[in-house]
Amino acid sequence: MERAKRKMEHIEYALATADAKGNAWDDLSFVPNSLPNISYGNTKLETDLPPFRLSSPFLINAMTGGAAAATEINRLLAIVAREKGLAMAVGSQMAALRDPAVVESYAVVRRENPDGIVFANLGAEATVEQAQRAVEMIRADGLQIHLNVMQELLMPEGDRDFTGYLERIRAIREAVGVPVIVKEVGFGMSRRSIEQVASAGVSIIDVGGRGGTNFAKVENQRHPAPLPMFESWGLSTPESLLEADACRLDGVRLIATGGIRHGLDAAKALALGASAVGVAGALLRLVTHETLEACLAAVDAWHHQLRVAMTALGAAEPADLRRIPVLITGMTAERARLRGRE
Ligand code: FNR
Repeated sequence: MERAKRKMEHIEYALATADAKGNAWDDLSFVPNSLPNISYGNTKLETDLPPFRLSSPFLINAMTGGAAAATEINRLLAIVAREKGLAMAVGSQMAALRDPAVVESYAVVRRENPDGIVFANLGAEATVEQAQRAVEMIRADGLQIHLNVMQELLMPEGDRDFTGYLERIRAIREAVGVPVIVKEVGFGMSRRSIEQVASAGVSIIDVGGRGGTNFAKVENQRHPAPLPMFESWGLSTPESLLEADACRLDGVRLIATGGIRHGLDAAKALALGASAVGVAGALLRLVTHETLEACLAAVDAWHHQLRVAMTALGAAEPADLRRIPVLITGMTAERARLRGRE
């Protein structure tokens, strides 16, 4: 099965090609607070992502499904989500809409986590009817629609027609009956794109920037005629958050995904205006290489690191980080200046 093979290649190459350890989150640092007037024990991780109330700002972002071998990965991710109270998205469900034999690789997520917050996932080429079926398939609480133009262009079998996306996003949002989240997959989003998505009535946007899983690299591994010059395409996740901030959009909440490695990166994302942070590649590495206990311990460590940062900065809950000043240096500062942001 071609599609199942592609799904497993994505996993294999995402594990093999993750960007080097340093990324744009390293360009950000906090101004310390010597008198935070708070105790660690009183910090809370509960986070509003309206209409969702999350018990942690970390969410397990869309990765897989559509192949028998993906079932076990999704099962483990769903257990981590359940045990640690994290919202979780499944990978693109187009495979299951076309081939009922692979529905199980997605359905396992709802079965393992019957009461958790679970998001469905499709690309912007989906029809309203497909969106409804994807949501029903896993009794999803929300639907992610991914935007991945560069990935498709570099994918040997990828889409080549990107017309009508905004209209379909609007139609799906109006019809689907659950909140819609529009997300990039690691190339970041500009002010203009963010404004366009918001204009379609979408109130949760995952800016999905560069810095972690790099789908240009992943697809180049799979392509007989790769285009390596596109491997640094896009905006980093912090740059994308700065773009979103410049839009000053009322009522739009942001998720920051792309290169989040630990709780301090999460704190920086929240300080730059995100309401939640998504993790994909780092969790894929954990569930494929480590025991379930080690995965659960890693999430505990991220939570602890975030609470250390919150305590040191005097933030009682993640939302309080939003007023904390961040120093921006290096390439991120230089590029932000070019975009009229300092
Ligand atoms: C992804 N991602 C993804 N996103 C999406 O919306 N639908 C999908 O089907 C997939 N598939 C997928 C497969 C694999 C193997 C990976 C690692 C990732 C993208 C993912 O949700 C996220 O946006 C990016 O991976 C960036 O986050 P990280 O990996 O840097 O934490």
